[in-house]
Amino acid sequence: MSQQPQELRAVEWTGDALALIDQTALPHHTRILHVRDVDGLVDAIQRLVVRGAPAIGAAGAYGVALALLQGRREGWSETRVRAEIARVRAARPTAVNLMVCVDRVVERLADGVDAVLAEAVAVQREDIEANRAMGAHGADWLLKKVAVDRPLRILTHCNTGALATAGWGTALGVIRELHARGLLEVVYADETRPLLQGARLTAWELDQEGIPHYVQADGAAAGTILRGDVDAAVVGADRIAANGDTANKVGTVGVALACADAGIPFLVAAPTSTVDLATPSGDAIHIEMRGEAEVLEWGGVRTAPAGSRGHNPAFDVTPGRLVTGLVTEHGVLEVSAGELPADRLA
Ligand code: MRU
Repeated sequence: MSQQPQELRAVEWTGDALALIDQTALPHHTRILHVRDVDGLVDAIQRLVVRGAPAIGAAGAYGVALALLQGRREGWSETRVRAEIARVRAARPTAVNLMVCVDRVVERLADGVDAVLAEAVAVQREDIEANRAMGAHGADWLLKKVAVDRPLRILTHCNTGALATAGWGTALGVIRELHARGLLEVVYADETRPLLQGARLTAWELDQEGIPHYVQADGAAAGTILRGDVDAAVVGADRIAANGDTANKVGTVGVALACADAGIPFLVAAPTSTVDLATPSGDAIHIEMRGEAEVLEWGGVRTAPAGSRGHNPAFDVTPGRLVTGLVTEHGVLEVSAGELPADRLA
């Protein structure tokens, strides 16, 4: 069944299960995975069946309901239910949305499963609303900053669209808004090694909407920017520290450095649920290290010599000084100019 991007729901509650679009199978297969227990959800988050900070936040929110329902079926104690919820909360360490959304829904635990589900539905709805607002604020800001009288050429990294969120997208939401206004010329989508979220997922979403785009190797990004082929870069975030340091998919900091050198805007688009004021700076952000096989193999076939070790951080940290703008649902903060999140988001 083909789904329009506007209707795309990476995460959907069906009444007794969590339906996830299996993002490991895209773009070739649109498969839905129905998750009914905590083990299944933890596995789906860790294998990136569901991925992207806001989407795993929404999945975690429904995970609280899954744990309650499984607990009822299997006669768990309250202590066991809470321990299983803690496993969901810890399934991946970098995106703060997972912890924030689980904690928000856990507050309703004592009120029963209907209250828990209602809170999870609210998490999902609010994320979509935030993304729409972010898209409009981000597009307005870019058009002012870039100030050319032609449509914009935007570079992005990883996937931040409907697949990575509850719907619409963060950075890709800004890009979709520019397209909807007829003010987007082309998107340069970094392929995003090693799991190809850009080539497989961003390109798929752009293609579905008829948005002109190139997929380029991550290593091409700096050259494309320095050659003047790009007006601005727009990316998402997994966790933003109080000083504006931003963790996002590995490779993002290189894009930010090239933008700084070229003197073009580097815009981070993220809901306030991604801002972690309790984390003072990027040094304190836990960066997920993933398995070596993801960088030592290609399609299950070993590409590196047998003696090589793999180094596979899933994210990197862009210092706040390189973040020209941070767009949230409330508007844009010029982080590198000293408008720190703590000043305006508390
Ligand atoms: O490992 P992933 O695919 O979950 O990483 C996702 C990213 O880094 C995204 O850029 C980020 O979560 C923002 S998604 C709106």
